[in-house]
Amino acid sequence: MKILNFGSLNLDYVYQVEHILIPGETLSSSDRTIFCGGKGLNQSIALAKAGITVYHAGMVGEGGEILLETCRENGVDTRFVRKIDGPCGHTVIQVDKDAQNCILLFGGANRSITREFVDEVLAFFEKGDVILLQNEINELGYIIDKASEKGMMIILNPSPYDNALDRCNLSKVSLFLVNEIEGYQITGEKEPEAILAKVRSIYPKAKIVLTLGSEGSVYQDENQIYRQGIYKVKAIDTTAAGDTFTGYFIASILENMSVEEGLKLAAKASAIAVSRPGATASIPLREEVQAFGL
Ligand code: RIB
Repeated sequence: MKILNFGSLNLDYVYQVEHILIPGETLSSSDRTIFCGGKGLNQSIALAKAGITVYHAGMVGEGGEILLETCRENGVDTRFVRKIDGPCGHTVIQVDKDAQNCILLFGGANRSITREFVDEVLAFFEKGDVILLQNEINELGYIIDKASEKGMMIILNPSPYDNALDRCNLSKVSLFLVNEIEGYQITGEKEPEAILAKVRSIYPKAKIVLTLGSEGSVYQDENQIYRQGIYKVKAIDTTAAGDTFTGYFIASILENMSVEEGLKLAAKASAIAVSRPGATASIPLREEVQAFGL
């Protein structure tokens, strides 16, 4: 069984600020670092660091060589990453003294996916293979339809949520990984139990993992619900903590671990990511997660 992650690759321009800017304000930052990121790339690296062989498909633009190098250094298969003219996907990220962040995204090359390219990539995969998607590339609906026609298992992290997702047939998704905000955007419900109940009624066959920040996470499928708390650490930067959780939880599924073990593994991995700066740079190796106490 092969796993394909069709997703974004971004250059993250991360600024340290005393507080997150308010409208109309000008504020000096105390530091700036450029990290490799993008929800797609982060999740591929998390999978690779967890020990899974993952194929990443996507597009990089000018300055994107470092994103490809980072993939390769971490063992991600990049045969389906294309380099095109024009700007690379990038973000401006503010991180404040409490490690909270806000992210301004420019899609760039990530928005240049063509249907021909999707067909070319999917031709390499077959029934039973897994495809992981986020919402930072274009043609998501087409990818979902074509992957479903092939009989691939579709895992979706609908992040960031926007109305492009309303045009996708999400009933073809087998597993959703969402945070509370995305859960609200999908269901209109705010309470975790209500979000889970609504997802169950709209997508009765889908499994869901709902992450709840400091309240941990909840997994639900047709038969069971599991809850997992967080591992408390000193937070430095929360960027990519959710992506780390996603990558490690999917790794646990691919390794046939129990849901309880998988949630624990993912919670430990994301705790380590929160304690470090940057996106891909903060994602721990499997050995580090295993050595993490508690
Ligand atoms: O989830 C974190 C990621 O979101 C960052 O790396 C940034 O690129 C945005 O895509």
